[in-house]
Amino acid sequence: FDVSWDSAAADKGGWSSFMAKEVSEEPEAVAKTVLGRISGDDIVIPELEGMDELFSGIDRVIVLACGTAYYAGLVGKYAIEKWARIPVDVELAHEFRYRDPIVDAKTLVVSISQSGETMDTLMAVKEASRLGARTLSICNTQGSTIPRESDAVVYTHAGPEVAVASTKAFVAQITALYLLALHVGRIRGSLAPEVGAEAVEQLESLPEKIQWILDNEQERTEQLARWMADTRSVLFLGRHVGYPIALEGALKLKEISYIHAEGFAAGELKHGPIALIEPGQPVFVVVPSPRGSATMHAKVVSNIEEIRARGARVIAIAEQGDSAVLPHADEVLRIPLAAPLFEPLLAVVPLHIYAMGLATAKGLDVDQPRNLAKSVTVE
Ligand code: G6P
Repeated sequence: FDVSWDSAAADKGGWSSFMAKEVSEEPEAVAKTVLGRISGDDIVIPELEGMDELFSGIDRVIVLACGTAYYAGLVGKYAIEKWARIPVDVELAHEFRYRDPIVDAKTLVVSISQSGETMDTLMAVKEASRLGARTLSICNTQGSTIPRESDAVVYTHAGPEVAVASTKAFVAQITALYLLALHVGRIRGSLAPEVGAEAVEQLESLPEKIQWILDNEQERTEQLARWMADTRSVLFLGRHVGYPIALEGALKLKEISYIHAEGFAAGELKHGPIALIEPGQPVFVVVPSPRGSATMHAKVVSNIEEIRARGARVIAIAEQGDSAVLPHADEVLRIPLAAPLFEPLLAVVPLHIYAMGLATAKGLDVDQPRNLAKSVTVE
């Protein structure tokens, strides 16, 4: 009689896997991360009280993380630069440490870690502190090591994440980065009040939009994954904030389904990846909203035409009502309308569902993929 198995099964709350449960909790992960940090039209992060001077004084942000958290950081760069007008570099923590980085007291190092225990990230944070940088951690685990080693912490409130592949923590990390960007933008005077108010509205409406995807597109996405169970390689394309989402979609697929997957910036297609396109090659394309930038949208649609002409099988992730994509894609997975910076928090959901669906169709253990650990506490 194995008690641990029983309690683990109970914790799944009726779901077939922790990953399935955690994907279903993505709306809640965002909602709980926002909770208590909005006051009227404004962002107020109680944990960062008394730090206004620090945020006014920095001239640079470096985001450090590994794995999925790194991709959240790549998304966060767009928001911090847009709203707080500070230059942002995003780096893999293990690369940062060994290249003699240029950092000083005007650098804010933002680390992102679900577990708070990833050794590569921890060592990079320590190195940044040693060099005089100010450090802030975005973390999902109360009392873990990385927040303790940092000057400040903004917790994501995604709740415990058990499956090795990170899902709900990813959307919570982006949410926390956006809250931070808005908070710092307001302090530095770079965020117009109406822009802040619109962002608050967008943040508050995210959970129900994510829920809409789970309610309306999950089944179709899982069916698509079942059809593709024998696929040997999948490519993912995205542009702007859709680019890190393409990288995340590819990572999730490799991690749990062991299928070769790569993410590319759509604009890079003609500089190399298009050579990979042969008849039948599945390609996911994260399509930016035409309302955000008609030019970017047109460019991505033209990328779709180029790869389709070479036989690619295109699965587009596009906002509802984007009729320009329909004639060009083999499948369209719909996401609700959102302001352009908020689209990644929606577009990633079908990609999480797809990776999980494909691994399940292959009969794999989605929670415990081979060779991987939830938290890598060695360098
Ligand atoms: C491991 C996990 C990934 C995770 C990464 C960073 O590689 O398998 O899912 O994204 O570590 O973990 P952290 O806890 O620092 O976010």
